[in-house]
Amino acid sequence: MDTQYISLVQAASGARRQSYAPYSNFAVGAAVQCKSGTVFVGSNIENVSYGLAICAERIAIGSAVAAGEREFVAMAVVADTTEPIVPCGACRQFLAEFAPDLIIVCATVRGDQKVENLSHLLPDPKRGILENVHAP
Ligand code: THU
Repeated sequence: MDTQYISLVQAASGARRQSYAPYSNFAVGAAVQCKSGTVFVGSNIENVSYGLAICAERIAIGSAVAAGEREFVAMAVVADTTEPIVPCGACRQFLAEFAPDLIIVCATVRGDQKVENLSHLLPDPKRGILENVHAP
């Protein structure tokens, strides 16, 4: 276990308790450490219209950006899984908008963890998007 990220994982675990997941019963918590040092948290929020569920990771980044943060150094994600949870594809793209090299501390509620880098989980996040649009 990497002790460097203990407080970030604890923040994500705390946020997990605020999860609103009555449809999947799968509670997820996330915490993002900004370059400024401030930590913002998020939990997943589901909806009776299932497709509207928002992952904990996007809530955390959204809260941070709404508070004026744009630079992030690490994120912790916690769930009750056998293997440490890894952000879904949509979240990878969302995170890469601001921090393509983000360190992601993937953790279970039992304390297992694996440190990943977003650049490994999602290489080339912006390739072929918008840059190829022909000028009018
Ligand atoms: N979920 C997250 O919050 N983060 C992930 O990394 C994976 C999935 C949520 C979305 C949904 O509320 C529930 O977990 C089941 O997919």
